[in-house]
Amino acid sequence: MTSRVLVVGSINMDLVIRAPRFPQPGETVIGEEFGTFPGGKGANQAVAARRLGAEVRMIGKVGNDSFGLKLREGLAQEGVDVSGVSISDNQSTGVALIVVDQNGQNSIVVSSGANMSLSPQDLGEHEEDFSWAKVVLFQLESPLETVLEGIKLAREKGAYVILNPAPARSLPQEIWKEVDLLVPNETEAAILANNSLQSLDPERAAREFIRKGVKEVIVSLGEKGCLYTSSQKVISHPAFNVQAVDSTAAGDAFVGALSVGMALGWKMERSIAFASASGALAVTKKGAQSSLPLREEVEEFLRVRGVF
Ligand code: RIB
Repeated sequence: MTSRVLVVGSINMDLVIRAPRFPQPGETVIGEEFGTFPGGKGANQAVAARRLGAEVRMIGKVGNDSFGLKLREGLAQEGVDVSGVSISDNQSTGVALIVVDQNGQNSIVVSSGANMSLSPQDLGEHEEDFSWAKVVLFQLESPLETVLEGIKLAREKGAYVILNPAPARSLPQEIWKEVDLLVPNETEAAILANNSLQSLDPERAAREFIRKGVKEVIVSLGEKGCLYTSSQKVISHPAFNVQAVDSTAAGDAFVGALSVGMALGWKMERSIAFASASGALAVTKKGAQSSLPLREEVEEFLRVRGVF
């Protein structure tokens, strides 16, 4: 059985410095090595799903510059269909400035560039991709009106809609009821639920999202694993214990893997274990796309631990 996943989202070049710690406001910290890595939440999720065996198409936008051409080519080399990745002549490719501390935690600032010129019309030109897909994946590094249009299109064509609300911002009422699966991390769940991170109760927040119209919610909780909530059941899955090197794109590995499980029609428990293993493996390597595991690696990781 093949899984067909369409990703609508961002494509960035990540400029990464490792540092002993994050700087305070006004402070300069001397870092360690610098590297450039292909990234962008959309592109990372596309590569994650592809490496895990899905057929993947991507809709996005890059600038007409060396980063953009390299990123588009890199996606194509991974086997992602990039017919929907267009090139903007008046915006530069998105970039992300990332600092990774000695615990492998990151802090990210994105300059969206061409990603923010992905328009609802661009999606309209690729309607066939929405009919083709079993699962369509969205994040929030694209214009909200484009995400909304894409979600409506995906629903119309009968695809399963996953929204990774990253980075979080308040969502219009009409989006909530169109989303099958919402996958925020703790910070995003807190913002969407108007809570502080400290006072966040993930299950309560998830119930609030379901009340607004989402069908299922998975809140990823970092070292505490993740929590699945629907109107019928709650599943708590612990995190796999690994040596953290760089957490960049761990969330993307998780979401990309979930999309594969859902497209294959797996039970939620299996999809969550598969996604948790993918996220855990991504944490053990540097960079965004460079850290995303292959299907065999994830299966071996689960086999060794006696899971599925
Ligand atoms: O989720 C990680 C990604 O967020 C990075 O690759 C960066 O480009 C930002 O989009």
